[in-house]
Amino acid sequence: MLSGIPLFPEQASTLAPAVDNLYFFVTAVTAFFALLVFLYVVIFAVKYRDPTGDRVGQPIRGSIPLEIVWSIVPFFISMVIFGWATVVFFDLVRAPDQTLEIYSTGKRWMWRFQHIDGQSEINQLHVPLGRPVKVIFTSEDVLHSLYIPAFRVKADAIPGRYSSIWFTPTRVGEYHLFCAEYCGTKHSGMVGSVVVMEPNEYQAWLSGGEGGLSMSARGEQLFQQLGCSGCHLSDGSGRGPALAGKYGVQETLATGATVTVDDTYVRESILTPQMRLVAGYQPVMPTFQGQVNEEGLMSLIEYIKSLPGARQPAAPR
Ligand code: CUA
Repeated sequence: MLSGIPLFPEQASTLAPAVDNLYFFVTAVTAFFALLVFLYVVIFAVKYRDPTGDRVGQPIRGSIPLEIVWSIVPFFISMVIFGWATVVFFDLVRAPDQTLEIYSTGKRWMWRFQHIDGQSEINQLHVPLGRPVKVIFTSEDVLHSLYIPAFRVKADAIPGRYSSIWFTPTRVGEYHLFCAEYCGTKHSGMVGSVVVMEPNEYQAWLSGGEGGLSMSARGEQLFQQLGCSGCHLSDGSGRGPALAGKYGVQETLATGATVTVDDTYVRESILTPQMRLVAGYQPVMPTFQGQVNEEGLMSLIEYIKSLPGARQPAAPR
């Protein structure tokens, strides 16, 4: 619809037209009323011009019907915008169940992307055409924000927390990728590109690079090296729970509250195990703060996700 207007970035994802149409509607409503007011200013200035300069206007005592009209009309227009925007917003934040997951970390001043198969890249992100992609990311230092205008997606990268964006690319090509949160001297240089490829070319690209170990294999290695495997025995007889089938389920905490085992909870349990302890376990797990970096944490999460019985956490984000 708006592809002919160069004010907008290219539409290269399934979400882009929905975002643009809403934006266009809000702009049109605003422009309509701005023009209406402007028009009447001009008309009245001409119509009620007083060439003598000494006529005095009549006092206005208010008009209930008029006030009702100018309250109710904007109310309904804003409710339309609210309802429409809510639908678009939920589309933007709720990724479909089956997505290609890619992990990323932002740090001053670059984006690093980690594919599950093992490849990693810096300031470049290769994705296949027509497949829903979810980028799960965090920051290693300060606030950053991952922004891909052609896909109309943006989310903050927050230290200690996972954010995500999702999109289905609809066009082959190369698109801008920005950091959209001022993060220091070279913030403006924290940019890159997203390369959308035909699925078969993407497969070729994936197998082309020297990827090394897949993320889950790397996570498994860390699981051994850090000694996690000494307590989280797979038969459940260890001091910690067996981790197969734990990802995505709800657990009850010692405090009685419940928690969904998602990326954030796994990360937290590695770094601050005592914070939200599952009921029935002793607070014996040491912290691994400082012993494993963000990429290592993501690999460990991917490893736990790869164990049999893992499922999609109920509430995304
Ligand atoms: Cu990172 Cu701005």
